[in-house]
Amino acid sequence: MKIKIALTKGDGIGPEVVNEGIKILKVISDYTDLEVEFQEAPAGGNVWKETGESLPKKSIDIIKNSDVLLFGAIGLPNIPQGVAESAILRLRQELDLFVNLRPIKLYRSLKEQCPLKDEFVGEGIDFTIIRENTEGLYANVGGFLKDEVAVNSMVYTKNGCERILRYAYEFAKTHKHTKITSVDKANILKPSQMWRNIFKQIGDEYPNLEQENYYIDAFCQWIIRKPYAFETVVTGNLFGDIISDEAAFLVGSLGMASSGNIHPGKVSMYEPIHGSAPDIAGKEIANPIGTILSIKLMMEESIRKPKIGIKIEKAVELALDEGRTKDIDNYKLKTLSTSQMGDLIANKLKQELKS
Ligand code: NAD
Ligand code: IPM
Ligand code: MN
Repeated sequence: MKIKIALTKGDGIGPEVVNEGIKILKVISDYTDLEVEFQEAPAGGNVWKETGESLPKKSIDIIKNSDVLLFGAIGLPNIPQGVAESAILRLRQELDLFVNLRPIKLYRSLKEQCPLKDEFVGEGIDFTIIRENTEGLYANVGGFLKDEVAVNSMVYTKNGCERILRYAYEFAKTHKHTKITSVDKANILKPSQMWRNIFKQIGDEYPNLEQENYYIDAFCQWIIRKPYAFETVVTGNLFGDIISDEAAFLVGSLGMASSGNIHPGKVSMYEPIHGSAPDIAGKEIANPIGTILSIKLMMEESIRKPKIGIKIEKAVELALDEGRTKDIDNYKLKTLSTSQMGDLIANKLKQELKS
């Protein structure tokens, strides 16, 4: 089977981590029946500097004609605010990628990297944040008035709430979860009140799933106090953005966390959750695992090859027993550069796919 993958490397550490993702995809192409074809679709701050556009039409056309998009990260210091980042928001809107899937899992060998006491880690950390990805404060409804007034409206629609909440219930059911957790600010915000009502209404169709609600402020402490207690967590756009970075630190590093920006059945975009990390760009120390685990998600959610996804995860776990990038390093193991970490995982994956 042939798959067309668009590549947006982006800015800062984006190209460094995507290059390691390409190694993994080449191993998949060599050792499975998938034949992978790449096409670059440049976007971000560097492209804006060259062309005046952060997402040129040519790139959108390439992405729309591909099966999936692998995205690095964008954003540059010293260019106008939001110019580079607007490319991501446009992709989420134009491809209607209403689901942002963000798994949070503490791997066995990274237990010592978790900043929590053992009693808070409990039986382990393994939950998925499902973030609504097109509405809320990101709906781009707002503006400036003479540099004196600035407004962004929090827009939730009934249809937007229904589709993400139904997706989350189905996700919890297919993953055999016992509980679904919704996070909002329904004590104050009108959009959250509508969200909570719809969460309850749809929940009536899933009597076997325990349903719980938290307010976002308290949830930020529960995610630290009892992360073992969560399985599927569904929330709005900005809340999901913030808690996913908080949660990523619990499992070792922002560099470990993966994501899929998904519209089921349509072209979807896979990317690590971190940004362009200007503080470490060009040093070859970025952790490529968030990107590599995003390819795991791509295999599961878009390419429908879950067995390859499981093998990618296994390869990552085996590699973590031997070496680490600087953000998760351990004095007992070798400290590896970005490309050495990618090579190690690619070699482990070759062995997994051969067996
Ligand atoms: P960031 O995620 O780029 O970095 C935060 C911290 O985490 C930094 O200290 C960085 O060195 C570290 N870090 C991030 N990824 C890492 C990795 N793979 N390995 C090791 N360490 C890693 O967030 P920021 O500094 O707040 O933002 C920088 C730029 O990235 C901004 O322009 C922001 O808008 C943009 N951004 C883009 C995306 C995206 O492209 N999807 C996501 C978030 C932020
Ligand atoms: C993310 C990022 C983006 C967001 C930015 C860069 C637009 O932080 O994907 O988490 O806020 O969604
Ligand atoms: Mn973010």
